[in-house]
Amino acid sequence: MSIQNQQTKLNIGLFGFGVVGEGLYKVLEQTPTLNAQIKKVCIKHPEKRRSAPEELFTIDPEVLLQDNDINVIVELIDDADAAYYIVSTALKNKKAVVSANKKLIAEHLAELIALQQHFKVPFLYESAACASIPVIRNLEEYYDNDLLHGISGIVNGSTNYILTKVFEEKLSFEEALLQAQYEGFAESDPALDVEGTDAVNKLTILLAHAYGIVSPPQEIVHTGIQNLQAADAVFAREKGYEIKLVAQARKLDNGKIAAFVLPQFVQKDSQLYSVRNEYNGVIIESRLADKQFFYGKGAGSFPTASAVLSDLSALRYDYKYEYKKLRYQEPAQLTNDFFLRVYISFDGLFHVPHEKFEKIEEWSSSDRRCHVTGIIRFSRLLDASWWKRKSVSLIVYPDAFVDKVPVKERTEKDVLILV
Ligand code: HSE
Repeated sequence: MSIQNQQTKLNIGLFGFGVVGEGLYKVLEQTPTLNAQIKKVCIKHPEKRRSAPEELFTIDPEVLLQDNDINVIVELIDDADAAYYIVSTALKNKKAVVSANKKLIAEHLAELIALQQHFKVPFLYESAACASIPVIRNLEEYYDNDLLHGISGIVNGSTNYILTKVFEEKLSFEEALLQAQYEGFAESDPALDVEGTDAVNKLTILLAHAYGIVSPPQEIVHTGIQNLQAADAVFAREKGYEIKLVAQARKLDNGKIAAFVLPQFVQKDSQLYSVRNEYNGVIIESRLADKQFFYGKGAGSFPTASAVLSDLSALRYDYKYEYKKLRYQEPAQLTNDFFLRVYISFDGLFHVPHEKFEKIEEWSSSDRRCHVTGIIRFSRLLDASWWKRKSVSLIVYPDAFVDKVPVKERTEKDVLILV
């Protein structure tokens, strides 16, 4: 069934009745003007008490997927594999779909794009990247030109919350993570947040709408905040930086796109500097307009529900993503062939091989912790075995892209400290 005009009633089949699902149910109950009603909810645990009539619930997904009256499936469950079945079946059954499932979308993006185009049904997922911030629709609609210089943002609320609590409020990492879980920001497997998987999933989605690049998320270099150390925060403070987990994509001079998720030192003059707690912030740079900054709540039940509602409302005027940038004559291409200025710290027991650097600019060592600042060839990070480990933390500098290929420079002192 297609959703043709403002008058069409949205008959919703909802998967999941967690914080977001229940919030959505309540809002729709209280807002009849939306002309949208939840007809059935599929849940996994029928034994749980719910604040909605019992007859609303089922544990059988087919009750929703095969119901011809249901013209919209809203998928808000945790399990990305089950979500894949639900979303792909719904699209094949010509139902519009709204989903918040970043993992599912990032991991199956090419196929999901093909399905929605083949069956000519909308699949909207604004809440999957930065929750309440309408960044997907803006990238899709407004920045439809090849002047888009880059996007860089804090796209994971939990890790930003943890960094704020640990480095500013002196909570332990474990306490901060527990709080993020309690507040409902964290994934049910919080390793997805902490190790940067959630952020790279979101970057994957943004890349498709910004540049028409559809890449498996695991092929994009990424890490999280799991290996950051107190010594890194001390270093950052001395230099006047904040440490943030930043997802970024940048168009290089050769037109190719660099993309990664790595911790970054952020200076006071960056809009990202003051993004705290579960807030997200995304800077979009375009050659003519310079920088634009989107800021808002990137996690939590209401911010997520607000984006789901906005997608539902967009279905009423038959909005769908067109993925125009995928059809550019010369589609954009990802590259790992560029140089970055990075800081790497490591403990005395593990030495970062000096060959990894093209140029070492600064180093210091003590019995407890050493750090090196230098320029690396980004492709060296594709082998994560030397830098993605507990004793090593890698942080990107502000304005980290180095244009010119530096001549390999190393002093004898550098070799002594690093070998
Ligand atoms: N775990 C996610 C985050 C939830 O912390 O950003 C919102 O996508």
